[in-house]
Amino acid sequence: LFMEEFIRGLPKVELHLHIEGALEPELIFALAERNGMTLDFPDVAALKSAYAFSDLQSFLDLYYSNMQVLLTEEDFFDLTLSYFARVARDNVMHCELFFDPQAHLARGVPIATQLAGIERGCQEALRRFGITSHVILSFLRDMSEESALETLEVALAHRHRFIGVGLDSAERDHPPEKFVRAFARARQEGLRLVAHAGEEGPHHYISAALDELGVERIDHGVRCVESPALMSLLAERGTPLTVCPLSNLYLKVFGQMSEHSLPRMLEAGIKVTLNSDDPAYFGGYMNDNFLAVQEAFGFGRGTWIELSRNAIEASFAEPTRKREMH
Ligand code: HPA
Ligand code: ZN
Repeated sequence: LFMEEFIRGLPKVELHLHIEGALEPELIFALAERNGMTLDFPDVAALKSAYAFSDLQSFLDLYYSNMQVLLTEEDFFDLTLSYFARVARDNVMHCELFFDPQAHLARGVPIATQLAGIERGCQEALRRFGITSHVILSFLRDMSEESALETLEVALAHRHRFIGVGLDSAERDHPPEKFVRAFARARQEGLRLVAHAGEEGPHHYISAALDELGVERIDHGVRCVESPALMSLLAERGTPLTVCPLSNLYLKVFGQMSEHSLPRMLEAGIKVTLNSDDPAYFGGYMNDNFLAVQEAFGFGRGTWIELSRNAIEASFAEPTRKREMH
């Protein structure tokens, strides 16, 4: 119980959060009503009963379907602020959030509308809760590289509104190599680079994201334990992994939390951080993830402090903000 209070109270940094994955069922219904849309589900309870996933794709189908209620700048603002209001209670002090512009462009929502709403939510979070944040534009890897490049060009008119690019969505059969030109273009613009790899896809996608795309952080990366050579490399280079324990459980990457590769990665000296991924879908926000890990592994204070320090160091926060957070 003492450790639980200690973990709840720890100041936290979230580096792997899809803002569309923070869309709670109640907000889906509220936005649908505001926008005059009819959902496939009669009520919140019926929608929630569909939240049972067998793998990444079964989750993505519902995730993309639900986000169709996001149409206006106000919708993106309400979503963003609802996430920050929730994690202020978990003592989150800094967050780097992903958004999926291509998913909204496909419905005719301009990238300017998406970014304006998200940015205003971030500013309000700073004003109300003192939480700092950055936005990362994520390419959908199951779409073409041409689409990623076009999206990036449109987004560059708002270059100051995002700090980097990422790569998410269906991983299998969509290797990092597919996006070499898009990441090279982003690098040219001085953007920070991250990519999802080794969640469902094989461990060599992690190596490819590092070597072919030149990313600075790996999102998930939990399948690195299948290659001892890769684990040594990650530890040597100090490459941060943004691990999402409840996500991995809900998407059946591991059968049980006790089977999660987290302790093996820590043991190998890899810079692991803990995050929530899509908290409205995977049973909880930061503290829920931290406490699920503690229940399975019973870490001591030293490990929790190490995880917290890793997240501060791995963030793209300004050096002065990093010092403040330490
Ligand atoms: N993996 C890949 N793509 C995603 C995820 C995820 O966990 N969440 C939202 N898009
Ligand atoms: Zn993710």
